[in-house]
Amino acid sequence: MRALSTFVFLFVLFSGYPVSAQQIPHLVKKGTATQLVVQDQPFLMLGGELGNSTAASPEALDQIFPRLKQVGLNTVLLPAYWELIEPEEGRFDFTLVDEAIRKAREHELKLVFLWFGVWKNSMSCYAPLWAKEDTRRFPRAQTQEGKSLEILSAFSENVLQADIRAFSQFMRHLSEIDKEDHTVILVQVENEIGMLVDARDHSQEANTRFYAEVPAKLTDYLKKNKNSLHPVVKQRWEANGSRTQGTWTELFGEGPETDEIFMAWSYGVFIEKLARAGKQAYNLPMYLNAALNSRGRKPGAYPSAGPLAHLIDIWRASAPAIDFLSPDIYDPGFAEWCAQYHISGNPLFIPEIRLEDGNAARVFYAFGQHDALGFSPFSVEDIAVPEEYPLTQSYTVLHQLLPLLAEKQGKGETHGLWFDGEKTEQIFTRNGYAFICRHDYTLGWDPPAKDGSPWPESGAIIIELSPTEYLVAGTGVVLTFEKADGKKTAGIGYIDQVVFREGQMIPVKRLNGDQNHQGRHLRIPVGQWDIQYIRLYDY
Ligand code: DGJ
Repeated sequence: MRALSTFVFLFVLFSGYPVSAQQIPHLVKKGTATQLVVQDQPFLMLGGELGNSTAASPEALDQIFPRLKQVGLNTVLLPAYWELIEPEEGRFDFTLVDEAIRKAREHELKLVFLWFGVWKNSMSCYAPLWAKEDTRRFPRAQTQEGKSLEILSAFSENVLQADIRAFSQFMRHLSEIDKEDHTVILVQVENEIGMLVDARDHSQEANTRFYAEVPAKLTDYLKKNKNSLHPVVKQRWEANGSRTQGTWTELFGEGPETDEIFMAWSYGVFIEKLARAGKQAYNLPMYLNAALNSRGRKPGAYPSAGPLAHLIDIWRASAPAIDFLSPDIYDPGFAEWCAQYHISGNPLFIPEIRLEDGNAARVFYAFGQHDALGFSPFSVEDIAVPEEYPLTQSYTVLHQLLPLLAEKQGKGETHGLWFDGEKTEQIFTRNGYAFICRHDYTLGWDPPAKDGSPWPESGAIIIELSPTEYLVAGTGVVLTFEKADGKKTAGIGYIDQVVFREGQMIPVKRLNGDQNHQGRHLRIPVGQWDIQYIRLYDY
């Protein structure tokens, strides 16, 4: 006891602040990963985002929070609505924000607030009516034909100042009520910024900037980072002579792709000032989410100039206060979108993904393959029966593994598997072993594997404990092992089904005989969720 109090005394003395003081949630680099540190511990978000209007009613929050907990979430993403926070100019009301924080604390959940400010899915529908109506003070973006859009102009100082004032008040309020508890861990700035119907704003102010010289801040960035630029921007810049001075079209050529680069820069300049002001009030990490440039569309047909992977350099140069860019995944190609966003130091966080059964498999891949910060299906409150929902099973498994995963991130000691009816095999080599990983239905043992039914998505995370020991956690996978050099044979020493309690691995039962095909494979059948420990040996 005396030793402990001496330690506490010395800690207080040397740290300079009381033992209870914890740092504000912040990001740290750990090897190749970036982690969100909350209450001084790495925090991986098993998340879910609420539908757009759900958090507008305290009663709805009351009803859904217990259910969110049952899904196994540790983090809820929900909007903070400018129009309700500042219903009259200069009068602020944080009732809904306070209620959400109260509910979250009651259910031991963390929150990520989404600032529905000037832009929500390109539009300005969450601007309060006093701002929408006053089009002289708060001008709109325009199409090439001169038509005004319900999109407030990124080039208007009045729009910027109105957003800064409301966002700073919001962040200050968070600081006042949450700087001790750290219930709010991250903030999304705006929602799916992006220009529609054209690739850029064509208002007079926008045109003036478009025909002016590209700012030196961007050309300096291009010069400095010329070897690591995203290939899409690099190619356009190089194809036009890698110029370090000139107008936007002189540097990048004509076309909607250049309009998009210009517009991304312009949004970035706005967002930088907004995020900086917000961080000054309360220094939480901040990110942007993107509506993706899918289905072969051109800028403008998709929301142009958003925080898209190919524009990462433009956003980094214009808005360094933004910590990372994130994809909202509603289109096919899950693995490709993950790879596109996990580039050049940008950590993968999936703030939105369509609510589908396949997420139960995808979540293992995101954490295992990409050191994800978090995963969060959209409109998660629509899960009617949490106990029977596939993602609940995956979150239950991942919850147990969070401390271990946090320790392993950034070291290259985890792998993610994700299969569907088309992609059924993944092979990789580690510590001299070839891991041959397949969809469980490749065995052809279950009738739905062969009767023409679509194969459910399946996935797992593989965690290396030592060169001969691994954990495989997930659903619907089968693994066999070979020696990579082919000289010896890889054998399965034994497999245990295990659980983790408070970070400790506890064997539940030995899996042998039919369960490992008499020592030939490790299998987690479709429809089952498991953590299995395997010890390999050579003969
Ligand atoms: C993506 C947006 O970010 C969400 O707010 C929501 O509108 C979904 N699309 C679709 O419902």
